[in-house]
Amino acid sequence: MLHSKITGVGMYVPETVVTNADMSKFMDTSDEWIIERTGIKERRFFKEGTDTVSKMGARAAAQALERAGKTAEEVDFILFATLSPDYYFPGSGVLMQRELPFRNIGALDIRGQCSGFIYALSVADQFIKTGMYKTILVVGSEIQSNIFEMSDRGRNMAVIFGDGAGAVVLEATTEENKGILTTKLHSDGSQAEELFLEHPSSNLKKRLNHEMIDNGAMLPHMNGKLVFINALKYFPEVIREGLAEVNLKEEDIDLLVPHQANARITVALQKEMNIPDEKVVSNIHKYGNTTAGSIPIALCEAWEEGRVKENDLIVLAAFGSGFMWGSAIIRW
Ligand code: UT7
Repeated sequence: MLHSKITGVGMYVPETVVTNADMSKFMDTSDEWIIERTGIKERRFFKEGTDTVSKMGARAAAQALERAGKTAEEVDFILFATLSPDYYFPGSGVLMQRELPFRNIGALDIRGQCSGFIYALSVADQFIKTGMYKTILVVGSEIQSNIFEMSDRGRNMAVIFGDGAGAVVLEATTEENKGILTTKLHSDGSQAEELFLEHPSSNLKKRLNHEMIDNGAMLPHMNGKLVFINALKYFPEVIREGLAEVNLKEEDIDLLVPHQANARITVALQKEMNIPDEKVVSNIHKYGNTTAGSIPIALCEAWEEGRVKENDLIVLAAFGSGFMWGSAIIRW
């Protein structure tokens, strides 16, 4: 039986560190408010001309490949998760394809927002299980600092999100009870407009106009409280669903790597599932919410810190815009 296994992890975050104090220069906010409500202390902002979503993805991918002992030529397929692609089209996966010496392999963008990495990982897992591909790069990369407005109008979202990229190399293995044991994916489109970016929109004859810019219609909208409540419901549910499928329990988890949405969500999840701090990865204080980048960045840092060990049960889980949510249960 073929399974897929993560054999390399990598990340890239832009150099520029933006603290909460820096944010308060542009908008009516404070270090206290941001830390208390989200746990975030600082985030990274991209540098124009140096960082693009596809180039950041390629840097994370190059590190993951090196750690997996693989060359770009050996990669069979690219899955690229982002909500902030370089272009409206073509996708950032294709743009990443030209950044490293890949063959003319397939490259597929995944639009799963905060759950994008889990969706991409799940798709990659299926390609490997069927035997179609042996080595796949799964990347999550975002530039979000320019989606929000650095103003009072944009403050409710601007302080939360950051820029960054993470990647994993997924390879086929025949080892029993190793690698990705299962993935679970869900969505509820009835809530799409509770966390979305509407404009520029293909629904309109005129996709973008001056009025939209003036009245802030091109800014994302988030019903923070509703997202929060739903996250608390679906995070534990989708983790339990995955564990149950492979006959495991919450106490079997060695390391939980949740999407870094808000430190309060992570703490509530831990409490609900009775998981101690040492079994949970939380790095939101350093990077904010990097959306599709957040799980691979958190996994990469945990791996670098020696927190991801052979045979450990690693659980990834995400919830976000769509609403979309998912989990991956992994035997390392
Ligand atoms: O990855 C998935 C994506 N998103 C999420 O997971 C977000 C989930 N939701 C959350 O994390 C929280 O709802 C937030 C952090 C977004 C907000 O926390 P909250 O406790 O739900 O606050 P709130 O939205 O109810 O706002 C409380 C107050 C409001 O003022 P009033 O109406 O009480 O006077 C806001 O206007 O805080 C105000 N506020 C701010 N104050 C200082 C909103 N943004 C800011 C800000 N700085 N940046």
